[in-house]
Amino acid sequence: MGSLITNEDDVKESKDAILYVNGVLKLLPDGLAHLTLLEYLRDVGLTGTKLGCGEGGCGACTVMVSYFDQNLKKCVHQAINACLAPLYSVEGMHVITVEGLGNRKFGLHPVQESLASRHGSQCGFCTPGFIMSMYALLRSSKTPPTEEQIEESLAGNLCRCTGYRPILDAFRVFAKTNDLLYTNGFVSLQESKDGEFICPSTGKPCSCGPNKETVKQADVCHNGYKAVSYNEIDGSSYTNKEIIFPPQLILRKSSYLRLNGFGGIKWHRPLSLKHVLELKSRNPDAKLVLGNTEVGIETRLKKIHYPVFIAVTHVPELNVLTVNDNGIEIGAGVRLSELQKFLKKLIEERPVYETSACKAITEQIKWFAGTQIRNVASVGGNICTASPISDLNPIWMASGAKFRIVEGKGNIRETFAEKFFLSYRKVDLGQNEILLSVFVPWTRKYEYVKEFKQAHRRDDDIALVNAGMRVFLEKRNEKWIVSDACIVYGGVGPVSLSAVKTNGHLTGKEWNKELLQDSLKILRQDILISEDAPGGMVEFRKSLTLSFFFKFFLWVSHQMDGQDSFKESVPVSHLSAIESFTRPSVMSSQDYEVVKQGTSVGSAEVHMSARLQVTGEAEYTDDTPMAPNGLHAAMILSKKPHARLVSIDDSGARSSPGFAGIFFSKDIPGAKFTGPVVEDEEVFASEIVTCVGQVIGVVVADTHENAKLAARKVNIEYEVLPAILSIKDAIKAKSFHPNTHRVLSKGDVELCFQSDECHKIIEGEVHIGGQEHFYLEPNSTFVWTMDGGNEVHMISSTQAPQKHQKYVAHVLGLPMSKVVCKVKRIGGGFGGKETRSAFFAAVAAVPAYLLDRPVKLTFDRDVDMMISGQRHSFLGKYKVGFTNEGKVLALDLEIYNNAGNSLDLSLAVLERAMFHSDNVYEIPHVRVNGNVCFTNYPSNTAFRGFGGPQGMLITENWIQRIAMEVKKSPEEIREMNFMSEGSILHFGQQVQDCTLHRLWDELKKSCNFLKVRSEVEEFNLKNRWKKRGVAMIPTKFGIAFTTKFMNQAGALVQVYTDGTVLVTHGGVEMGQGLHTKVAQIAASAFEISLSSVFISETSTDKVPNASPTAASASSDMYGAAVLDACKQIKARMDPIASLKKHTSFVELVNACYFERIDLSAHGFYIVPDIGFDWTTGKGNIFRYFTYGAAFAEVEIDTLTGDFHTRAADVILDLGFSINPAIDVGQIEGAFVQGIGWVALEELKWGDDAHKWIPPGCLFTCGPGNYKIPSVNDVPFKFKVSLLKDAPNDKAVHSSKAVGEPPFFLASSVFFAIKDAIIAARAESGSHGWFPLDNPATPERIRMACADDFTAPFAKADFRPKLSV
Ligand SMILES: Cc1cc2nc3c(=O)[nH]c(=O)nc-3n(C[C@H](O)[C@H](O)[C@H](O)COP(=O)(O)OP(=O)(O)OC[C@H]3O[C@@H](n4cnc5c(N)ncnc54)[C@H](O)[C@@H]3O)c2cc1C
Ligand code: FES
Ligand code: FES
Repeated sequence: MGSLITNEDDVKESKDAILYVNGVLKLLPDGLAHLTLLEYLRDVGLTGTKLGCGEGGCGACTVMVSYFDQNLKKCVHQAINACLAPLYSVEGMHVITVEGLGNRKFGLHPVQESLASRHGSQCGFCTPGFIMSMYALLRSSKTPPTEEQIEESLAGNLCRCTGYRPILDAFRVFAKTNDLLYTNGFVSLQESKDGEFICPSTGKPCSCGPNKETVKQADVCHNGYKAVSYNEIDGSSYTNKEIIFPPQLILRKSSYLRLNGFGGIKWHRPLSLKHVLELKSRNPDAKLVLGNTEVGIETRLKKIHYPVFIAVTHVPELNVLTVNDNGIEIGAGVRLSELQKFLKKLIEERPVYETSACKAITEQIKWFAGTQIRNVASVGGNICTASPISDLNPIWMASGAKFRIVEGKGNIRETFAEKFFLSYRKVDLGQNEILLSVFVPWTRKYEYVKEFKQAHRRDDDIALVNAGMRVFLEKRNEKWIVSDACIVYGGVGPVSLSAVKTNGHLTGKEWNKELLQDSLKILRQDILISEDAPGGMVEFRKSLTLSFFFKFFLWVSHQMDGQDSFKESVPVSHLSAIESFTRPSVMSSQDYEVVKQGTSVGSAEVHMSARLQVTGEAEYTDDTPMAPNGLHAAMILSKKPHARLVSIDDSGARSSPGFAGIFFSKDIPGAKFTGPVVEDEEVFASEIVTCVGQVIGVVVADTHENAKLAARKVNIEYEVLPAILSIKDAIKAKSFHPNTHRVLSKGDVELCFQSDECHKIIEGEVHIGGQEHFYLEPNSTFVWTMDGGNEVHMISSTQAPQKHQKYVAHVLGLPMSKVVCKVKRIGGGFGGKETRSAFFAAVAAVPAYLLDRPVKLTFDRDVDMMISGQRHSFLGKYKVGFTNEGKVLALDLEIYNNAGNSLDLSLAVLERAMFHSDNVYEIPHVRVNGNVCFTNYPSNTAFRGFGGPQGMLITENWIQRIAMEVKKSPEEIREMNFMSEGSILHFGQQVQDCTLHRLWDELKKSCNFLKVRSEVEEFNLKNRWKKRGVAMIPTKFGIAFTTKFMNQAGALVQVYTDGTVLVTHGGVEMGQGLHTKVAQIAASAFEISLSSVFISETSTDKVPNASPTAASASSDMYGAAVLDACKQIKARMDPIASLKKHTSFVELVNACYFERIDLSAHGFYIVPDIGFDWTTGKGNIFRYFTYGAAFAEVEIDTLTGDFHTRAADVILDLGFSINPAIDVGQIEGAFVQGIGWVALEELKWGDDAHKWIPPGCLFTCGPGNYKIPSVNDVPFKFKVSLLKDAPNDKAVHSSKAVGEPPFFLASSVFFAIKDAIIAARAESGSHGWFPLDNPATPERIRMACADDFTAPFAKADFRPKLSV
């Protein structure tokens, strides 16, 4: 190709790299090629952009980049992940971060204002990312986006706290607006026939209307918040607040960049293809880079070093998108979002039959990663990575695409996509060749291309199996014959695999059922997956290959339906196999009463940090500026689950760049062991390691990267010892933590089983997998010394500052009075930062103390997930006796939890599981035995619900089984066995103030259970391959720490002479709104406005000996302690107040001050009337119970295991809510987190079930392969109600605790899934009970829907592998 054009300017080297950040010009110095945009932004103090994962999977780092497209002559605005963008990749662009939108001093941007005021932030760590995704969508849209577009644009942003509903509601105001509805006045006029509120923003029913009961003041949409008009933020008409695109960048010409980075890295950005080829010839090992979404993972997570990068983003020849008579040519550099836009337009313009392949590509891109990734990821990057699970490669191959390849001299050759992929991540490209473009031919009449993909989670997830399929039919002799076919699968081997035999078999045959059946048989031999194949799930993956082909057959037949002589019309009931998934936008409602107590208690106040969070001004531990002599720490971690440490060679680390110190067990100045209950955990392993990820030592260096590099250079020799890697292994080896066997009993189980009353007995096992906390802010601690080490201070991300103080003092050998821990807020905890964070603080404290220098230890996401413990997996073995009617008589239960290598809180977790193992049922005879298993895994720990959900899930499993045995619905069995007022529980506590029956009845009415059930049955009769299911689940959650002494709380209240009040208490604000509720209590106590009360931080030097913020009890306890302090101050003020000489609180305060009255008080509270004796197994372990119930309706695709929650209706009794908005937020957040636990999130460990993972290692250690719910997993209809008129006299202001109780209610989704599977199995003749382990992932759903496609690979009672 002699025509490659380069002009002089293209190769004129420049080091003048610039960037605009929030409208300000920044000169980018040479030497930073190793940095990401995120690192740069945070280094220059823009810490609003967060690091949640560093792998493009969470969206916390989202920023908007804008550049001037010289071809289109317009500005392009895009959301991208700053964590994967190399700094120099945005050279010449404008980056807007959350700080560039608005702030509290100069005003919030409407997007920020809306999110803050609509309760869209809790811990706030994800919030800047959401703001930026929404902002970029608005800036890049010519017209207001639709609600669907808004939801789609947020798929790459994860939130672990809110359950997404309030975020969607907040952003919905920016969607297309029907102005008429706004002008129509009052809410009452805007109700649909069903009485649902109609949103002026969308014209559809929505949740932004007033709560029906009591919020009477709201007369327009959005509870009185003025909806923001789209024009206010229209990207084309900037308001004065909006940062404009810098005009200098419009005129600026890009130049060839040649820059350097740490470690000898070279960064080239050529401007022409010729120059790329020259550079490539000169540097054969150079890495081409575009979006860096693959290369970034390789360099940062897999630690691969590439010395030379050639960034080809600015090369015009690689960015072509052209159309000719034969098809389309797509430049290798074209971004996926650009391609999608282009194809969508083509599909509208070209004849339908020509664009079958184009449609398949656009449909597949829809489910390809999130918006931020699609905005930068290139076609060529995806192809050349040659990932076996690439979503697009099977389609290129199937559709007969050709790849055009250019070599160093400019010569071009073509190859079929089918021939391009040679072996695992190896492609047909010579060292001096690059991919130039892809040519996709138009499809012909009767030629069809279809895409398939099944992942763990529908959105932003890589495929488990995907496929591209093409068939070309021709009519010959009145028959439709396959003239050509190509079936290609991804995720079934080391490369995308063409089913060669099947393709051959199809060709020349008539398209009919016989061909289908024969092809399915051949496919089984064509696609072979070995038992030990990486990724596991072999039976599922094989079944999917058949399911996809069956779907393809039906789909093509449906396309052909009506054609002359075509006989294979698809039965109506089978259409369910091929209907594509479309998601309606979320409709939700929140129903509660407002019981106002004083000035603030009872009001739906906005989270006190909300406005700081939406502007990025809220500071988290890692945002704390580093002191000039500060150091970063990295841990040296065990690579073996159980081994003797033979030798440690740290010479490599010592000579590593920036090294400042390395410390092992021998260096610890104080105690070498710690632990919250028993001190069984070595700070640094000295001789034996008992899990992968155990800390052996710590390295400190000048930068985080250097510390990690040095830690990697420590060589450790191990002598491997046998490891226990499951509960079953532990039971077999009798490997239990010492003194952890527990028994609870009531009545006589054995006698009952033998009695005539007991008509049936069932026995079974329930397997429950663990769950990762996935708080968005990873563990982080910053420790420094004062007075030469006489005092130690730290700021930590923890739920338990007192534990940090205690562990650090203990390990350094200091008195606790000299150690201070402060916490302003944390980016989520959910139990994961209750004890484990303290251990890591002790690790960081050792170098800080010994070197007398500040040390920051912030975990990478993978390290956090691998070593900091999770929700316990459980094994439950039950034996249950019941009557023919379904009345439960006796329960004999053995439960085991997987504690890992130290006791931590595992015994208390087990105990709570035992206390909750009756859920809400009256069982006359109960015996529960519990054991805590020692295994060679990192220590598992607290997680929302603390064992309670696992205990209740075991119960609901056998309840559901009884229902099948006696042929009744599970709901009937539940109702029949409900406990009631006065019932005595199996641990001796009497049930009081039981609102269970009320809740259940209200829920039944609200969700219209009987009607929905009959509609579901009708749907199931009509649809063979999609099934729906429903379930109603009750819950009762005990409130109190089950360790009595922990039920105490302290607070400090200080009133200042300007009438403002500073409250400090022992609880930590982790997003749950604790500070807001507690401040409301103080405001009501003093009868002042909430804005006069401030809570700055939690600090061990203000309130001593505080229990961790946990057990849902913090509002109860700290609210009461603050109230106590307020009352003391008020009592002191009373004599002055009674004089009635003041007209305001500030006057009263001043009057008191002049009378020398102490305006500071320490408040204290102990939870009364609790106590339990394990020797008798009886007592009042809980102060009271929070009751709730939930309904869920789901739909499953029985062929793939895909599912979605069509509706969820949740009701809780929260007494008189202190803040209903916050409580609703807790319920929604817990419910969606619970959906993750029951249906999405599966931890895969290297154990017997997963031999392809190294023993004891965690495979699912990042958002890439551990899937928490995303915005698109929110139930389509999501209703949350609080029980009305139900005061609770056992807690402050008659409220009830909320944090943990709703979590278990998400099991309604699990049991609705099971209900749907029962309907599916019935179609294949399987009517008996079957096990379904938790989580019910697509794999478990698909395999349980046993049918002809699973039968060749697994029996109907097949139980997919699970790490337990
Ligand atoms: C969070 C996340 C989600 C993802 N989701 C999906 C998904 O759903 N489906 C899926 O298939 N993939 C997914 N990926 C993988 C990845 O995003 C894609 O493969 C993407 O298309 C890669 O494009 P890129 O421009 O970022 O490649 P880069 O990382 O820039 O480059 C990738 C490789 O291609 C080479 N290369 C690029 N262009 C050329 C060329 N013209 N000639 C020769 N070699 C070239 C590079 O040298 C490099 O080796 C995901 C990745 C992340 C991080
Ligand atoms: S930090 Fe960038 S996506 Fe998670
Ligand atoms: S508010 Fe979204 S992660 Fe906490």
